[in-house]
Amino acid sequence: MKVKAVYWDLLLNIKETYQTINVSTEMLIITHDYNVIKSTNIVLSDYLAAISFYSNNANDDFFKVLYGNGVSRKLKKILDLYLGYILVNKHSKTPFTCVHLAQTIDGKIATISRKSKWIGNEENLIHAHRIRALVDAILIGGNTFRIDKPKLDVRLVKGKSPIKAIIANSTLELEDLTPGKTYLFSNKKLSYNNLHKDIEIVNIDDTFGYIPTKSLLEVLKQKGIHSVLVEGGPLTIRRFIEDKMLSRIEFHIAPMLFGSGKNGIELQEIHDLDEAIRLNNPKYYNIGNAIMIVSNL
Ligand SMILES: NC(=O)c1ccc[n+]([C@@H]2O[C@H](COP(=O)([O-])OP(=O)(O)OC[C@H]3O[C@@H](n4cnc5c(N)ncnc54)[C@H](OP(=O)(O)O)[C@@H]3O)[C@@H](O)[C@H]2O)c1
Repeated sequence: MKVKAVYWDLLLNIKETYQTINVSTEMLIITHDYNVIKSTNIVLSDYLAAISFYSNNANDDFFKVLYGNGVSRKLKKILDLYLGYILVNKHSKTPFTCVHLAQTIDGKIATISRKSKWIGNEENLIHAHRIRALVDAILIGGNTFRIDKPKLDVRLVKGKSPIKAIIANSTLELEDLTPGKTYLFSNKKLSYNNLHKDIEIVNIDDTFGYIPTKSLLEVLKQKGIHSVLVEGGPLTIRRFIEDKMLSRIEFHIAPMLFGSGKNGIELQEIHDLDEAIRLNNPKYYNIGNAIMIVSNL
C-alpha cells in the first residue's frame, strides 16, 4: 500500500504525541492540516479525527477512532492498518507483539536451501520497514540472524530504527550486527570478546527446553519496550504462538509456489478442525501484485 509523505509524517507525529498522553483523560486529535494535538474535550466537526482510549481494555480494543469531516478513504485505510502498532496499551503486563511473514501461496517462507530474498515484493519491504519504524523493538531468532544477516533498520522510510532483540543459544557473528541498542537473549552463558556497550546479554532459564516467551517479553517490558515486531523465523514464531503471546499476525502472500521448502508456521499436529487457530476478523490489503492478511489473534 502506498502512503503519501504527508500521511507518513502524520503517523510519526501520532507516535511522538502518544509518548506523553494521559490515556485516562486525554484524546489524540488530528487537525485538518494533519497536526496532532492532545485534548480533553472536542467538537469533532472541527477536526479530521479524534482517538479516544479505553485504558482497561486489551490491545485489540484499546482505542477508538471517531472521524470528523473531510477524511479521505485512503487516510482511513492507512490509520486502520498502522495505528495498531503505535497506540498499544502501555499498562499491559507484556508488550504488544506482531509477526510479519512473507510467504508463497503454498505457505513457504524459504526454499529448501533456506533462500528467502525476496519472497515479498518491494512494497512489502517498505511496509515492513514502516512497522519497524512504528514499534519499539524488533525480534528475530538466531537462525534468521545467521542466514539472512538482516540489517533490522528503517532505511526505506523516514523514522527511527527500533531496538533489536535476538534469541540465540549459541554464539553469533556479531560483526554482522548493525549499530544500535541490541539485547541478546540466551539460556546459556555465552562469551563474547570486546562486546560493544550497546549490546546487552540477557540470560533467561529455559526450564521447558526453550526460553518462555512470556519471561522474555516481561524483560523487554521492564526495559520500557511496549511493542515488538517478531520477524521470524518459524521456530521463533512457533514459540510465540504456542505460548499464546502473539497479539497480531500478518501474512504477505506472494503469487508464487515453491512446492517444497520451509513452512512459515509449524505447530503441533492437529486432527480435528476445531483445534485449528482461527483468525479473528481478518482484514485484506493489496500490496503491489500480492495480498496481505492482517488479523489479531
Ligand atoms: N520469508 C520471511 O518472511 C522470513 C522471515 C524470517 C526468516 N525467514 C527464514 O527463516 C529461516 C530461519 O528460521 P528458523 O525457524 O530455522 O530459525 P529462527 O526462528 O530464525 O531461529 C531459531 C533459533 O532461535 C533461537 N530461539 C528462538 N526462539 C527461542 C526460544 N523461545 N528459546 C530458545 N531459543 C530460541 C534458537 O537459537 P539457537 O539455534 O542458537 O539455539 C533457535 O534455534 C531462514 O531460512 C530465513 O531466511 C523467512
